[in-house]
Amino acid sequence: MSAGNLQTVVHGAAEVVVGKRDGAWPGGDPADELLEVHEDAAIAVVDGEVAAVGPTEDVLREYPAENADEAYDASGQSVVPGFVDPHTHAVFAGDRSDEFEAKLRGKSYQDILAEGGGILRTVRAVREASENALAANLREHLDAMLAYGTTTVEVKSGYGLDTETELKLLRAVDDAASDHPIDVVPTFMGAHAIPEGEDADEYVDAVVDEQIPAAAEQGVAEFCDVFCEEGVFSVEQSRRVLEAGEEAGLTPKVHAEELAHIGGTKLAAEVGAASADHLLHSTREDVDALVDANVVPVVLPGTAFGLGADYADAETMLDAGAPVAVATDFNPNCHSRSMGFAQSLCCVEMGMTPAQALVAATEHAAMALDRPARGRLDEGSRADMAVVDAPSHVHVPYQFGENTVDAVFKAGDRVV
Ligand code: NIG
Ligand code: FE
Repeated sequence: MSAGNLQTVVHGAAEVVVGKRDGAWPGGDPADELLEVHEDAAIAVVDGEVAAVGPTEDVLREYPAENADEAYDASGQSVVPGFVDPHTHAVFAGDRSDEFEAKLRGKSYQDILAEGGGILRTVRAVREASENALAANLREHLDAMLAYGTTTVEVKSGYGLDTETELKLLRAVDDAASDHPIDVVPTFMGAHAIPEGEDADEYVDAVVDEQIPAAAEQGVAEFCDVFCEEGVFSVEQSRRVLEAGEEAGLTPKVHAEELAHIGGTKLAAEVGAASADHLLHSTREDVDALVDANVVPVVLPGTAFGLGADYADAETMLDAGAPVAVATDFNPNCHSRSMGFAQSLCCVEMGMTPAQALVAATEHAAMALDRPARGRLDEGSRADMAVVDAPSHVHVPYQFGENTVDAVFKAGDRVV
């Protein structure tokens, strides 16, 4: 028994999912081989960490529920690691629901952007918004994400496109994160679009020479991301941004191959990015390069769903042995804050099993944020847990469009 304060005991769960089974790899394995699952199980939390996980009887013998600050009866329910959402643009202002309607009438995402809508429209709204208003908007989104079972989320700047506004966005992220139970991982993404009326190369100069040093000095951002895309930033421009970011201490991430294939995936491998995201047009060769360079592929099926586009080829990624992660990509173009729905799309649209989807939404997602110890519930892990109101984790993707999460614990504290 570990010394310290017995904070929480969750007992009687129909199942507790610890994470990937030792040595298991997602590609090819049947679902029941991939996960370490305990049935009729309990978890004891001491000082924020999992002190014991296993059969309820064994755990309660060592950690009696009546000695805990909080005892939670999870009968008929299942416990999974809190979801990690490794790709969002959750700090913004304004409303783009009318663009959803325009897209349904056949307008493309690129057409809208070329007319000054899309990202550029959100940029105008963000430049006018106060830092407090941005932080208040973000808090609402974080509340929703937490209720859906997300306990760690990445949030990118990128709706400022000038030094002052990019720093304002990052301060708003820091402010909202400071008093919210979710762990927020901030990313600088000044290279998210070319500002209206500006030249791409000149703008990249400004990102490299002004924005990145200022963001590094401000000290909020941990990663540096770039929209490497046809008509946005070329591979060479993206490389400049990522190398400057790295020099300033920001780990690279890449939006790659979302709308066209231009080489962003290989760039991610070359610069040793933490992740390469979207990958709708990546080839097997691209995926092999990611695997060789230990770059996590992040799929964003909500974006494809919202755009009515094709999905990334997750089966090829799994076949290549890649640790596929999934994120919501929550942003004004993809208004979903639910990692449960993202997992449904993984299964129904991308051929993944519920177990593969869960691993993608937890420990692989944590790897995409350079936090490999997160997203699991072994002894010694931080006790970030989602309690699913159903006897198996399969219900998370199975009950699509619903929130199956009934309670959330962050470092052992009940927060939902
Ligand atoms: O990841 N593709 C670029 N960035 C976002 C969309 C941002 C927006 O449309 O506001 C994405 O999908
Ligand atoms: Fe994105």
